[in-house]
Amino acid sequence: MSVLEVVLGVDIGTSGTKVVAVDRAGALRTAATAEYAMQVPQVGFAEQDPEDWWVATATAVRSILDSLRASAAVRVAGISFSGQMHGLVALDRGGAVIRPAIIWCDLRSAEEARWLEREVGREQIIAWTQNPPLPNFTLTKLLWMRDHEPEAHARIDCVLLPKDYVRFRMTGRYGMDMSDASGTLLLDVARRQWSEPMCRAAGIPESWLPPLCEANEVVGTLTHEAALRLDLPAGTPVVAGAGDQAAGAIGLGVTDPGAVAAVFGTSGVVLAATSEPLRDPLGRLHTFCHAAKDRWIVMGVTQAAGGSLQWVRRRLGSELERVAAETGLDVYELLQDAARRAAPGAGGVLFLPYLLGERTPLLDPQASGAWLGLHWSHGLDEMVRAVLEGVCFSLKDCWDAMAEIGVHDTSWRAAGGGARGELWMEIFASVLGRSVEVLRGEQGPAYGAAILAAEGIGWLSPGGSGAWLQAGVSRLPNPDWHAQYAASQALYRASYEALRDVMHRIHSAF
Ligand code: XUL
Repeated sequence: MSVLEVVLGVDIGTSGTKVVAVDRAGALRTAATAEYAMQVPQVGFAEQDPEDWWVATATAVRSILDSLRASAAVRVAGISFSGQMHGLVALDRGGAVIRPAIIWCDLRSAEEARWLEREVGREQIIAWTQNPPLPNFTLTKLLWMRDHEPEAHARIDCVLLPKDYVRFRMTGRYGMDMSDASGTLLLDVARRQWSEPMCRAAGIPESWLPPLCEANEVVGTLTHEAALRLDLPAGTPVVAGAGDQAAGAIGLGVTDPGAVAAVFGTSGVVLAATSEPLRDPLGRLHTFCHAAKDRWIVMGVTQAAGGSLQWVRRRLGSELERVAAETGLDVYELLQDAARRAAPGAGGVLFLPYLLGERTPLLDPQASGAWLGLHWSHGLDEMVRAVLEGVCFSLKDCWDAMAEIGVHDTSWRAAGGGARGELWMEIFASVLGRSVEVLRGEQGPAYGAAILAAEGIGWLSPGGSGAWLQAGVSRLPNPDWHAQYAASQALYRASYEALRDVMHRIHSAF
């Protein structure tokens, strides 16, 4: 029997761990997912048990091996990771988890973010770390422990991020790669080293922070114990891996300056690769190290991108759900058909997609969603089209802030569930005035992790993933729509400016 050689890409996501097995030619051989829960002990809190990540990883790896071994002898040549960023995993001197991980979407540390602004200063923090203090970031979560759980805080010996914890369980070694470390607010992102002044100002002992490495470095091998658990040979090389945004960009081939990715997941992301750490002095964007040496990423986030369309489907789409069930058609296709019946500009209807507040560039958690410009003649078609357009305007707002600080674009690639919508991508291309490529084949963070594993063990040269990625279809801007959207975008911006105060008053009142 011939031997099938694969690398494994392990993505520690928010709802589950996804593992992909990729062969030497870059083809996806199989994938498996194992889910876990998120605990919400109070509104605004979000926690996970690191043990669940490890159990899910073992389950998904074993399930992959079972399906591959059914038809071939298998050799796993290397393993690497992608992971949800920012989550605080606090370990004691013996390497035991002190409390459940406080994950990226937990917003309990808003007061600690304000404390940092007051005590250290927003501009100073941006100068040291390239990013402003936000409750999403690891440092503010650590400060929350200091303020609310002093006994647990006093036991901290090491701080890891989610994927680093799983790698620690595999290799017995502590470490953190540059891209993920960027989201702690303790890294000097420009110099790719821990920021000594930031640690000092925030009272964080540098001894808590693990050794840093680049995402495609081999940082250990499987221990005997981990090997037994995963059903793999001890000594299998383990490569550091990256935060999910950087790994996703690697999976899309977005590594060289000028390459830009737009990800239409539940949230939406615009991410550009740069050859220098461009920072937004106003702190509206995130600047992180990329998962490639001497590269950085600048990134903006729309909180509810695909999420806005999911919301419309759930709240207003019962008729379309019924048609979908009767005809076997995809309900998201039916939503796009509805939007296609409305004219570009949605007959004057605008949608502000701030259903979960807005991250960048508005940095306004109190913003809320709205349809504007409704008339008696409008119906679901215009409302759905306005949602597709509004999400694109929000992503374009992120891009405009990026362009303002000197990021340039030579090519755009789109990914995520929403990128499968042909009309949505035509609208996006027209809003940008650029052609947007949607790749074929497997992509995304787990695939990016597999590429990093392949780079680490020498299957691919660094930045050489191009050989593995399959060219896709290009969605072209429609010149008439582009002109319409330039006008609509100006109205979209003016709408938020005009409504911000009302949104905040509504937020305080309810
Ligand atoms: C990045 C971010 C998310 C999380 C969860 O800043 O918050 O990408 O990593 O996916």
